[in-house]
Amino acid sequence: MHTLIAANWKMHMTRSQASSTVQELLQKLEGSIPANREILILPPFTSLETVSGAISGKNGFSLGAQDFYPAEEGAYTGEVSPEMLLDLGCGYALAGHSERRHFFGESDDLVGEKLAYGLEKGLHMILCIGETLTERNQGRVREVLTRQLHSALDSERVRSALRSGLSLAYEPVWAIGTGEVARPEDIEEAHALVREELRTLLPQSADRTAILYGGSVKPDNTSQILGIDNVNGVLVGGASLKADSFSAIALG
Ligand code: 13P
Repeated sequence: MHTLIAANWKMHMTRSQASSTVQELLQKLEGSIPANREILILPPFTSLETVSGAISGKNGFSLGAQDFYPAEEGAYTGEVSPEMLLDLGCGYALAGHSERRHFFGESDDLVGEKLAYGLEKGLHMILCIGETLTERNQGRVREVLTRQLHSALDSERVRSALRSGLSLAYEPVWAIGTGEVARPEDIEEAHALVREELRTLLPQSADRTAILYGGSVKPDNTSQILGIDNVNGVLVGGASLKADSFSAIALG
């Protein structure tokens, strides 16, 4: 399985900042990305076209969106459709990022709808899951991850559109943007649990589905994290905003 190194820029970067960051990244990484690694950049909507133009035709680089609304078109003020993203060269999209779930109130049902719809439209979907600190302290990690996985993946629509590509991202909410990385044993346990659930839910593709870790990934902890069983990539927030640190992660 190849390794996916994803940069989630969240609500950062004007077009000119995006352009200079991606040029710097290309300078540092072009020609040196190992054959089994893919670098995925997830800029805000406004910089998708800029990044798309810069990485077009570059080996090992892909483009994705942080979110979309699951409808073809219509009176949905402020929203963007999968068709619009595909038109810009996006191959990937996230669903269920914890910031969407917690700041914007996205329910398991809406996340499931986005996941199924994105797959049906041909996007490789990355489903993000993760427990809060309270849930972890209450010993409810298994319950929460299992609920999030089942509600998004236990669906005929998902099973029949899987060829578009599916990856998972385990992002414990308490490790996002806090500098606090989950302990290797916690990551190993959560990823093993996700793999086990995938084998039940999607037996044909479970072992081919990448499971990324996200939450305070930095250049100095990347290789340790990537060495943990069932970790097939990383989803990076803060440390993806500077070409120096993200290229070190990409090669780490
Ligand atoms: P940080 O790397 O800033 O903790 O963010 C992780 C994340 O949310 C990636 O999607």
